[in-house]
Amino acid sequence: DHPRRWALRGDLLDFTAAPAWGDTTPAAVRFDPDHWLLIEDGRIVGRQAETPDDSWVRKDHAGQLVLPGFIDTHVHCPQLEVIASYGTELLDWLQRYTFPAERAFADPARSRAGAEVFLDALLASGTTAAVVFPTVHKVSAEALFESAAARGMRLITGKVLMDRHAPDGLRDDVAQAERDCIDLIDRYHGQGRLGYAVTVRFAPTSTPEQLAMAGALCRADASLYMQTHVAENRAEVAWVGELFPQARSYLDVYDAVGLLHPRAVLAHGIYLDDADRRVMVERGAQIAHCPSSNLFLGSGLFDWPGAPFAVSLASDVGGGTTLSLPRNMGDAYKVQALRGERLTAWAALHAATRGAAQALQLGHEIGGLSVGQVADLCVWDWAVGPVAQARDAVVRELHERVFAWMTLADERNLAACYVAGRPQR
Ligand code: GUN
Ligand code: ZN
Repeated sequence: DHPRRWALRGDLLDFTAAPAWGDTTPAAVRFDPDHWLLIEDGRIVGRQAETPDDSWVRKDHAGQLVLPGFIDTHVHCPQLEVIASYGTELLDWLQRYTFPAERAFADPARSRAGAEVFLDALLASGTTAAVVFPTVHKVSAEALFESAAARGMRLITGKVLMDRHAPDGLRDDVAQAERDCIDLIDRYHGQGRLGYAVTVRFAPTSTPEQLAMAGALCRADASLYMQTHVAENRAEVAWVGELFPQARSYLDVYDAVGLLHPRAVLAHGIYLDDADRRVMVERGAQIAHCPSSNLFLGSGLFDWPGAPFAVSLASDVGGGTTLSLPRNMGDAYKVQALRGERLTAWAALHAATRGAAQALQLGHEIGGLSVGQVADLCVWDWAVGPVAQARDAVVRELHERVFAWMTLADERNLAACYVAGRPQR
């Protein structure tokens, strides 16, 4: 069994503030090369340059990069098997690939197996916490909660609400959905490291009555999360306009029923206007930016530097093509390059660690390597293979080194992954 008191040596990197857009200086960065983290009962209890005494079991990762475990703020458990499906944009992709795969999760055994494979894949990518979509089936949310609890992971999820514009076997109804949500909230919300998210798939798949029910759940308990999709694709935005002619915008459909609040996580947000951006700030809601999905589905280019609200980084698998957040950081850089902007390694890494944690109101627990935080952390090789090693050999300063790492790294770079101080692989 793993010791309850142990120490980890490596190059420690986390953040003390939000990096300014475009700033490659380490102003917001805390980099302590060749330092020790002291860990006791799953929490960080010290940081020091000196080798700890023999009362600490020592794990020596000298010369490797130690980061807080990544936080994926938007990802779909049942979509692992539709990743890399050819040839379509969002609405057609949902009909052809996604909905058929999600139907299989009505089977409890399939839901359980799917949750286990999914969470192990997250951990193998260096992601230790996530905000996850299961399916419409209550059992799919139960399976994720149970599997996350078994691994000690910080996980936020909730049964998907969808009562129209979805095929047979994937629709609920308002009354049964409300009962299922209340039961799941009672059993899992705030238990250990689990949190419940009221989960509206997106405006087109919920009736106005179901949206009102979801908003009422959020208003009744401010500790609940909310997750959904917004303004991802032009055809989707036009469809929402037809379905909700009285709404000022797509975002306004959610705002009108009380779904926007400081624990709301909305994926994409590519087609938001200035009024929407102000509403996001006023409500304290965040956007989960999903660059590999936005590129793969041809959805569009998110205006990150123009976002006055919190932006976190997300894989959106199976629309996204990898669970690896470093690979999504590489894609996020390319999205901004296409817009004539440049994403620093600091802004990218912050959005997957401290920034995401703070936006989820979990900054005290995760997203950093400070004393008192939970020891969710990953050890990474700075460079794997001759190409990355050649690059790493000539980098001159810290941002250049971390930027090359973020652009070239993937799950092969992951040397070790700890959840609440316990090794996961
Ligand atoms: N909008 C509604 N459902 C989905 C989904 O499953 N994936 C993505 N990317 N967008 C959506
Ligand atoms: Zn999604």
